[in-house]
Amino acid sequence: MIKAGVVGWPIEQSKSPIIHNYWLKKYSINGSYEKISCEPKDFSNCIKKLIELDYAGVNITVPFKEKALEISNTVTDCAHKIGAANTLIFKDGKILADNTDAIGFISNLRTQAPEWSADKGTALILGAGGASRSVIFSLLNEDTPKIILTNRTRERAENLAVKFGKKITVIDWSDISLYLSDVKTIVNTTSLGMLGHSELKLDTINLNSETLVTDIVYNPLRTVLLEDAYKKGCTTVDGLGMLLYQAVPGFKKWFGIEPKVTKALRTEVLLAL
Ligand code: ATR
Repeated sequence: MIKAGVVGWPIEQSKSPIIHNYWLKKYSINGSYEKISCEPKDFSNCIKKLIELDYAGVNITVPFKEKALEISNTVTDCAHKIGAANTLIFKDGKILADNTDAIGFISNLRTQAPEWSADKGTALILGAGGASRSVIFSLLNEDTPKIILTNRTRERAENLAVKFGKKITVIDWSDISLYLSDVKTIVNTTSLGMLGHSELKLDTINLNSETLVTDIVYNPLRTVLLEDAYKKGCTTVDGLGMLLYQAVPGFKKWFGIEPKVTKALRTEVLLAL
């Protein structure tokens, strides 16, 4: 039996087991995927133990995404640039670290908005945390000509601009509305709009209907940001697809089959939110 799982602390909230177990069943694979709770001080020992137990690999979630890079033998370019790993592959006692959030982000947009393409114009990214790094990597990789980056704490955005280079321009959080008319893509990578957090309420007066608006928040599925943009005629894409698509490369590496993201899988995960 092929074993995999997701390691985090706390781990209860993780939706990854629903996704992977859905695919294991669908493709009749003799495999398992479970939640693995690990105290922060025990992380590297926990991974060592999983290798000894012959696991094929694991997903990594909060708070271990950065630490996972440090303990790995090989790191993909993508994970290195993003500075975090969400997928580990174990082979011959060694650890390969990858980050599949960037591919998850772009695959979701490609399927939900096939007419959109990143290279058509400027992108505005809200937020400068871990999720923002994946989105920036992804959009630069897709030849986005310019990225306007803004964060409540401006310094964090400035640090990312240094890291990712000249295509990034930092603006003040309070100036967002001034830039809405000229962007082709808007991405919320902050936790605003998530269940239990404050809403992300933009002044959408300048927003035009040519702009694609997407949110990495998926609970609720239709955030206030997406609803406001929809009312302005924009194409909107919710964040659930990113969660589903980021799971594809890990599943393929561990279990040997490239799984499909389908409506039925979406429904299964939605029911568990
Ligand atoms: P993640 O790894 O999921 O991106 P994070 O690193 O904690 O998580 O980042 C959370 C993001 O949401 C940050 O951009 C954060 O802004 P700060 O860097 O200023 O903290 C943003 N965020 C959280 N609460 C916010 C709020 N009330 N208003 C504006 N931005 C907020």
